[in-house]
Amino acid sequence: MNNLEHTLKEASEDFDQCQSVTDLDQAKAKYLGKSGVLTEALKSLGKLSAEERPKVGAEINVVKQGVEEVLEKRRDAILNASQAKQLAEESLDVTLPSRKEDRGSLHPVTQTLHRIESLFHSIGFSVAHGPQIESDFYNFTALNIPESHPARAMHDTFYIDESYVLRTHTSPVQIRHLEKNKPPLKIISPGRVYRVDSDATHSPMFHQVEGLWVDQQVSFADLKGVIEDFLQNFFENKDLKVRFRPSYFPFTEPSAEMDMSWKGGWLEIGGCGMVHPEVFKHVGIDSNQHQGFAFGLGVERLTMLRFGVNDLRHFFNNDLRFLQQFI
Ligand code: DAH
Repeated sequence: MNNLEHTLKEASEDFDQCQSVTDLDQAKAKYLGKSGVLTEALKSLGKLSAEERPKVGAEINVVKQGVEEVLEKRRDAILNASQAKQLAEESLDVTLPSRKEDRGSLHPVTQTLHRIESLFHSIGFSVAHGPQIESDFYNFTALNIPESHPARAMHDTFYIDESYVLRTHTSPVQIRHLEKNKPPLKIISPGRVYRVDSDATHSPMFHQVEGLWVDQQVSFADLKGVIEDFLQNFFENKDLKVRFRPSYFPFTEPSAEMDMSWKGGWLEIGGCGMVHPEVFKHVGIDSNQHQGFAFGLGVERLTMLRFGVNDLRHFFNNDLRFLQQFI
């Protein structure tokens, strides 16, 4: 009897030590399992005399019930505790601020392209596009840069094969557009161009905007007015000045480099000129009837100046620390 009372106490202490249902099941085996203390005790009843057997049997059963009770109590306690813990961990605090949503934004060069398109649109220019893989004919020949012409050396060209190149400038779109459309016409053509060149101010891929206005009496003065108006609006500076320096391009005559006033000095921002009669000849326009001007601007250059970026390679490194400044 003493022994049995002790068993209940011991079981109760063992069960209290258990922190999980698995531990508890293991502890239970020690008392109620196949060879547990109480099971063995019941088995040994057979050895007792017929008189003793019911008495001892009843005593064992009382202890057994006691052990089962404390076991179930402990099991409930463990389950309640783990449920309470889970509830506490999963509780929802509706007063917490919401998670920050990452917003995407347009690349600074794309922002500039949109700005250019909208400013030129406001003075009547529409947008034309041409292919980036361009034939040697459109990229050079039709622009009055025949094979072995020294002007080809001005372009460090990526060749696809003998007759196709990655276009080195947006000027071929002039030809493609003039082939399909009759003057009067006013277009800009923004897009990617490619040259074998790479440093802080040159990237093998960059963007240009071509401009072309052909009509019966378009003059160099119109060119200056258009460029000045565009740059003043682009940089939101009505005092911005434009200067032209004589230059050479095979597809314009006369040709000029365009500079704009910037921080007390001058900065080159592109090339321009009056469309060369040879170019008109290629597309069947009589240069006694029509004339026009063309220009080409560097889009990265304009973006760098507008946002104060000092290295062109930042645009193409995909570094979020850089790009997030233009949201
Ligand atoms: N295509 C020339 C270049 O990439 C830039 C240019 C110069 C375009 C004069 C023009 C132009 O339309 O008239 O260097």
